Amino acid sequence: MPTHKPTIGILTSGGACPGLNAVIRAAVKSSERLGYDCIGILRGYEGLVDPVSYMPLNSRNTAGILTQGGTILGATNKGRFSATVGEDQRVDLDPALLEQVATTVRQLSICGLICVGGDGSLTIAQQLHEHGIPVIGVPKTIDNDLGATAFTFGFDSAVACATDALDRLHTTAASHERIMVLEVMGRHAGWIALHAGIAGGGDVILIPEISWTFENICRKVRERESEGKKFTLIVVAEGAHLPEGGTVHQLDAQAAEAGYSQQVKLGGVGALVTAEVARRLDREVRNVVLGHLQRGGNPTTFDRVLATEFGAHAVRLIHEGRFGEMVCYQPPNIESVPIAAAIRRLSRVDPTSSAVQAARALGISFGDADERASPFSGHCVDEAASRG
Ligand code: F6P
Repeated sequence: MPTHKPTIGILTSGGACPGLNAVIRAAVKSSERLGYDCIGILRGYEGLVDPVSYMPLNSRNTAGILTQGGTILGATNKGRFSATVGEDQRVDLDPALLEQVATTVRQLSICGLICVGGDGSLTIAQQLHEHGIPVIGVPKTIDNDLGATAFTFGFDSAVACATDALDRLHTTAASHERIMVLEVMGRHAGWIALHAGIAGGGDVILIPEISWTFENICRKVRERESEGKKFTLIVVAEGAHLPEGGTVHQLDAQAAEAGYSQQVKLGGVGALVTAEVARRLDREVRNVVLGHLQRGGNPTTFDRVLATEFGAHAVRLIHEGRFGEMVCYQPPNIESVPIAAAIRRLSRVDPTSSAVQAARALGISFGDADERASPFSGHCVDEAASRG
């Protein structure tokens, strides 16, 4: 590549989320001001190996992308670079693949590679770092499940989307006196469900971090009915564990066939909750799966600011030679930590946190036994009988 200045590479990996373009723009603008050239690697880590694919980035071709969702560089969470398979399980990448990446980095004269991604993608970045490739991590995910940072960008936008959905469900649920179930993403953490549930006036929030039972959900519905509230909004995180244990998920057959290790695909717990609550209460219950709507659209103002700060800080870390670090938000400052300190330590909702306590204080049920605000003790159906 004909370049005379040191070059900063940037790639976006894993599931897309709002704010990726804001990071790219910030990294490009601040790189230029510090005298670097910039290139964008296409389709995540895949663009670093045969066939190598990249594009030059500059303040002209990144103008106007601050507000756009998605990523102009493309991203993938499938393929040859899969370094996690489940909760906290790391898979070591093939050393030959790592060597190919090192060769490409040398050939493109990349002096620092910014890897924007979630836990899986940053686990790959860590392996690149261990292989001597100069990387900097930037934490991204709507799930907000990365350790060492108070927030990842993308989360606030996803919560805004789920909250908007709840606002809409609220009016139709009230009009039709229905129970509505909203299944939201979040993988093995309940952050989206918790925050959207609070912001959108949910009545029941089911998250992976708190064990729940159908009996307790039904009790909450009956309690509301006894207060004259004929509708109920239930928010369920896709990774919420069933009362009998385990999550509702599918294996990615395509990936398994291709020989790639992959995360399981979560989803379907909302339908299960809907069917069981309808059966137990003999009521009309409807299910909405918000799905990838949460990953699309424009970033919120919070995510624009966070992503911009992350992008600028990543370039600063390269400039200072602090490779192997990940930028993070430790309010009120943007800081950095070793990537190794952030990965495989999923950040989950603390059941004793102030957010959970505030929700409980308002009478929101987590489907567990903690019904301190409720004097209501009626059971809808005998639990033992319903199991039989
Ligand atoms: O990690 C982000 C996320 O959207 C999760 O919330 C969800 O479980 C997963 O990605 C979905 O991935 P895919 O788009 O591959 O189905």
